[in-house]
Amino acid sequence: MKIAVIGGGSTYTPELVDGFARLQTVLPVDELVLMDPAGERLEPVSALAGRIFAAQGHPGRVTATSDLAAAVDGADAVLLQLRVGGQAARHQDETWPLECGCVGQETTGAGGLAKALRTVPVVRSIAEEVRRRSPEAWIVDFTNPVGIVTRSLLQEGHRAVGLCNVAIGLQRTFAQLLGVPADGVRLDHVGLNHLTWERGVRLADGTEALPRLLEEHGAALAERLELPLDAIRLVGAVPSYYLRYYYAHDEVVEELRHSPSRAETVAAMERELLEMYADPGLTEKPALLEKRGGAYYSEAAVALVRSLLLDGGDEQVVNARNDGTLPFLPDDAVVEVQAVVDAKGAHPSPLTSPLDPLMAGLVAHVTAYEDLALQAAVHGGRERVERALLAHPLVGQYALAQQLTDRLLAANGAHLPWA
Ligand code: G6P
Ligand code: MN
Repeated sequence: MKIAVIGGGSTYTPELVDGFARLQTVLPVDELVLMDPAGERLEPVSALAGRIFAAQGHPGRVTATSDLAAAVDGADAVLLQLRVGGQAARHQDETWPLECGCVGQETTGAGGLAKALRTVPVVRSIAEEVRRRSPEAWIVDFTNPVGIVTRSLLQEGHRAVGLCNVAIGLQRTFAQLLGVPADGVRLDHVGLNHLTWERGVRLADGTEALPRLLEEHGAALAERLELPLDAIRLVGAVPSYYLRYYYAHDEVVEELRHSPSRAETVAAMERELLEMYADPGLTEKPALLEKRGGAYYSEAAVALVRSLLLDGGDEQVVNARNDGTLPFLPDDAVVEVQAVVDAKGAHPSPLTSPLDPLMAGLVAHVTAYEDLALQAAVHGGRERVERALLAHPLVGQYALAQQLTDRLLAANGAHLPWA
């Protein structure tokens, strides 16, 4: 089995490789190829990846290349985890929206639109290469914004599934709080990528544990999500921490105005990580990596690739084509829900009950934005950017959409050939 990781020079990669090494009996990988145009990162990251495999007795080999065609040739699965423009572009996404009183975030709001515009064309051309070289390969997209990128890939007929670690993170947290094994907890997870709620937490014996979880651990959860417990009770479900950008938008803007951007923090961490990776004595992922947002990414990726390649047939939370799952959305929207994953792809499980209007309204609104964002990313043009921003629930006003568009285009000229 050959797995290609595009953006393999990411400092996240040791997390992924550690998962492949630990779960080698679950997913027998012969070759893990790390592809990245940035040689200065790829070199130390791939060397560490090789040492992690060796230290854990993994019989497969780790290879590294800057050649996309070679990387995807003969691959069974291609994982996308690239970041167009790196942390520098992310820093822009996180700062200029603040000048307009809007949240500055890499996937939510105007910053997320900028990321989509930079990313979709690049991912599409990578996917074309995958189709040419390995038409049967599965593409697992971890590249943000995952909902928009996955929708774009599916529209082009690629064999793609979108992946995010928010659900697995909450599953682990809930299981730990409830004192049960992680695989004994099924989330009723619903929404769009980075816009989801846990409506239920079912235990292995069929018991619904959400009321108990909120009763016994509500304060701890609220603290972790930085939302009032009463807000969670009012919604009637546990929102992902990305919902804070909606439910506490103005408060977040104030905080972000007075703190370094996440990109700056991450860039500093990356310098430190790369230095550590260059040490030939290091044979495991360093603890510092836990300060990044990617916890359990490797477990989720291994589980997904396994079920796609080995016809697993189990349920996992993924990003897949809606096809009526949320009946008020278009079929080609991409939703993040529980889905049965097998060799034919990800098939969303029917919802246990209709979505509360409190959630459905926001989901419909953001889906419409995602549609317009994708059109702007594919066809370009200032007007399409304005339309996407006007449609976003965190923008909505014409003058604001104009101001944001000015800044978005000014900051991203180098990455948008049409701007
Ligand atoms: C979580 C999200 C990812 C996001 C990451 C950012 O894992 O699910 O989509 O890329 O956080 O983490 P970072 O350490 O880069 O801020
Ligand atoms: Mn994510």
